[in-house]
Amino acid sequence: MQSEIKSRIDYLRKEIIRHNDFYYDRNDPEISDGEYDNLTKELEKLESEYPIFASSDSPTYKVSSILSSSFESVKHSLPMLSLSNTYSYEEISKWYKKIKKSLDDNLEFIVEPKIDGINASLTYVNGALIMGATRGDGENGENITENIKTIKNVPHKLEVKNPPSFFELRGEVYISKLDFKNLNDEVTKIGGQNFANPRNAASGSLRQKNPQITAMRKLSFFAHSFGRIYVEQLKKQSDFLRYCLKCGFQLQNDFKICHSLKEITSFMDAMLNKRDLLCYEIDGLVIKVNDLGLQKKLGNTSKSPRWAIAYKFPAKQATTRLNKIRIRVGRTGIITPSAILEPVVLAGVKISRATLHNFEEIKRLNVNEKDTVLVERAGDVIPKIVKVVKKYGEILFKPPLNCPSCSSEVVKKNEKEVAYRCINPDCSAQFRRHLLHFVSRNAMNIQGFGKSVIDQFLKNGKIRTLADIYYLTYDDFVNIDLFKEKRSNNLLEAIAISKKRPLSRLLFALGIRHIGEKISGIIAKKFRHMGALFEASVEDFTRIPEIGNILALFLKRFFENDATRHVIDALIVAGVNMTEPETYKIGRQFEDKVCVLTGELETYTRKQASKIIISLGGKIASSISKKIDCVLAGANAGLKLKKAKELDLRIIYEEEFKKLIKKSKV
Ligand code: IVH
Repeated sequence: MQSEIKSRIDYLRKEIIRHNDFYYDRNDPEISDGEYDNLTKELEKLESEYPIFASSDSPTYKVSSILSSSFESVKHSLPMLSLSNTYSYEEISKWYKKIKKSLDDNLEFIVEPKIDGINASLTYVNGALIMGATRGDGENGENITENIKTIKNVPHKLEVKNPPSFFELRGEVYISKLDFKNLNDEVTKIGGQNFANPRNAASGSLRQKNPQITAMRKLSFFAHSFGRIYVEQLKKQSDFLRYCLKCGFQLQNDFKICHSLKEITSFMDAMLNKRDLLCYEIDGLVIKVNDLGLQKKLGNTSKSPRWAIAYKFPAKQATTRLNKIRIRVGRTGIITPSAILEPVVLAGVKISRATLHNFEEIKRLNVNEKDTVLVERAGDVIPKIVKVVKKYGEILFKPPLNCPSCSSEVVKKNEKEVAYRCINPDCSAQFRRHLLHFVSRNAMNIQGFGKSVIDQFLKNGKIRTLADIYYLTYDDFVNIDLFKEKRSNNLLEAIAISKKRPLSRLLFALGIRHIGEKISGIIAKKFRHMGALFEASVEDFTRIPEIGNILALFLKRFFENDATRHVIDALIVAGVNMTEPETYKIGRQFEDKVCVLTGELETYTRKQASKIIISLGGKIASSISKKIDCVLAGANAGLKLKKAKELDLRIIYEEEFKKLIKKSKV
């Protein structure tokens, strides 16, 4: 038994030291922070239960981080400690109560964001920055002065009047979420390996031998603590933060002074909710006793101060096995891969799938089935694979040659296009997705017509075309799974209601490529009837400002297509509405209309007429083109009117204009 414990302890120590190397020195961790913390916690527990195996060489006794030989070593004015951390509110409450017990009742705490970056110390002598160093092993760090000097928000001279003779402040060098994304995009462009997270990116950028590279990386600095400082007036951590602001450092406003556990935990809740909205990545919060005198009184353990504790947020990243790459066919035939994972808990939620976007992404990640991968879940976003941490084999994953649903050939339009498609118009997987879209909430909104209903009707052959939905009978419903009288009637009613949906909804429901909800609405309002769309020319479409040449051509082709004609005819026969109701409000007669004024009006000056059009929702343009909706023409109108007539634009003369602005829609 004891020997088993000993070998587990040895294993954990070795693993932690190995991961320290990946994390601190190579900036390329093999496991997530959460998994690393679990190893450390297990080791700490075993060492405290079995003190006979204690060793001063254990990574639990030393501040992590390995010193790199590439930089000169420098000794810190005071050791740079780490923070004890926890993932539970209960532990925070225990820590709080312990502190309260040992100190007076009127305690103040400060809760700060725990920015996920790399710890650094900056030394100022008589106000001048003379040294920048990494934490290193806590006693000695690496001299990275030149690199630190490239950070934009690090002042080279303290901006206070009488700077202290010695001031060693400590903080976090980090990269904002936006700069991180831009950096990874750049790295991708040149075919390099992406950084797994902002912390790795900051660390990799800061510890560059060439400071010019660091300078290009857009790093930031945030002050959170200090070593030796000769500043008399500072009594609290909050004073220190304000003093840093005076010295020219940037201060994060996301900290709070709290007087009770309730206040602390409410702020923690608030920050957890705000986490994804912050422009920098935080991995938790740090709760500190605010009074510096009391901090001194509480002191430190060998590794961390007693006056502070870090609350770590549920990990966003974890490693797991990619069990399968699933291929699905979308409603427009695009073949999309996604990852089926060995279930893992991420940010408190169990996940078993991750997006892979497309086959380019698979190539970029060089990922295949059975690989061990690092997955990340940020906010409500679908989890994604950050990188492969262990390859299973050397075989590359290849896009399928045939559609997984209908087996017809899969094609890529041209080399520039990323998407692979199944171009078989009768592909059943595409049709199923098409149906799901047609009945969905923002389309025809047939409530209760979900996946399982669709799958059963596809299976029993009751639905073969879109219009078949409208011929389903009561008997069809009561004969499928889980449907009885009430549910069948409800669905029949929902189908009947959907027949009356406006043209804008129907257009969106048809799932025309590139035509989303907004454009569907604009087209429907402009043409008002499906028939007009079948007759429209490319130019008619391009008259809509939101529609360019390519989209117009696309629409023209869509409505020219025989298959479209068949679908619409069948829907008409089934009684589906094909028109857009007049929905304008009095006062919005010129809604979305672009007008040109020409000639002289009798009743209004041009300025007055323009104002009227704008107040009724329209826009004014100065030159005639096919994108113009109408031309307001007065007496002596010349060239512009001629051109408008050539382009067959709508021309409004003064009398009509006067009537229009009173009641009707343009
Ligand atoms: S106070 C004695 N405050 O978290 C250590 N640290 O996991 C005093 N960190 O090494 C540090 N944000 O690099 C402190 N607001 C904050 C912090 C913070 C991030 C880092 C720091 C530290 C690590 C511990």
